[in-house]
Amino acid sequence: MGRFAYVNGRFLRHRDACVHIEDRGFQFADGVYEVWAVFGGKLADSAGHFARLKRSLGELKITPPLGEAALRIVLGEARRRNRIVDGLIYLQINRGVAKRDHPFPDPPVKASIVITAKAVDLAAGEARAAKGVAVISTPENRWGRCDIKTVGLLPNVLAKQAARESGAVEAWFVDELGLVTEGASSNAWIVDESGVLRTRDVQANILRGVTRNTALAILAREGVQVEERPFTLAEARRAKEAFITGAGNLILPVVAIDGAKIGGGAPGPVARRLRELYISAARTPSV
Ligand code: PDD
Repeated sequence: MGRFAYVNGRFLRHRDACVHIEDRGFQFADGVYEVWAVFGGKLADSAGHFARLKRSLGELKITPPLGEAALRIVLGEARRRNRIVDGLIYLQINRGVAKRDHPFPDPPVKASIVITAKAVDLAAGEARAAKGVAVISTPENRWGRCDIKTVGLLPNVLAKQAARESGAVEAWFVDELGLVTEGASSNAWIVDESGVLRTRDVQANILRGVTRNTALAILAREGVQVEERPFTLAEARRAKEAFITGAGNLILPVVAIDGAKIGGGAPGPVARRLRELYISAARTPSV
């Protein structure tokens, strides 16, 4: 079955879908995006992603081309037309199309919008989680507004490629104080050597991960204490467990950092349990 993409008001065959050469997303990375995991036909953490999208657009003063209610309908339609049961939905909104000039177009132009959807092999994801993955560290070199989910991802792309070239699946950015900020496309967590579950606080220059937020809510419900405070790379290397959270990989155990084994090189109980709880919550229809 062919895939379909939504581009500026129309569903098109995926292979024919394109945006204008003077789209500011293309020229300046002047746009934002969101990624929803889909389980059993349902968008996971839907409200959290919509709230963050609204915030990102607001921070960049981009007026969305559709209101939230209409957007929900189009996302559902993208899912349906691509027959996605378990998968990922990607949404990008750019400032729009205008003759290349750095300041915002004046008068403003209509923002452009693209939505794609793809199926995900859940069994492959489970196999990966059962084994755990390796991460590498890389110096933090991003701008100061990583709280905005912009499509300006070149440092993330380069970090991810470096990870891939060393057989890892994620790169953890480490700031000038030696503190881990987050992954190139995920938030970073450890169970430190004294058994405390830790993840970076959102006052830091990181993305406020929606999966991170849901994980915090699940942990609170389970009575598991979490400290939202920074950890150093050295602490991570001595940790009992490490894992990452994000819409792409959900909760994914980390078993090596820069080639050094974490937790004996096998996924730990906290990450495994959290993954189970997260997926079962995502599968439960909301009321
Ligand atoms: N990335 N940090 C960064 C830099 C990210 O790009 C992401 C998500 C996260 C986790 O956020 P969330 O839990 O809301 O997905 C943290 C998406 C999945 C991506 O770029 O594909």
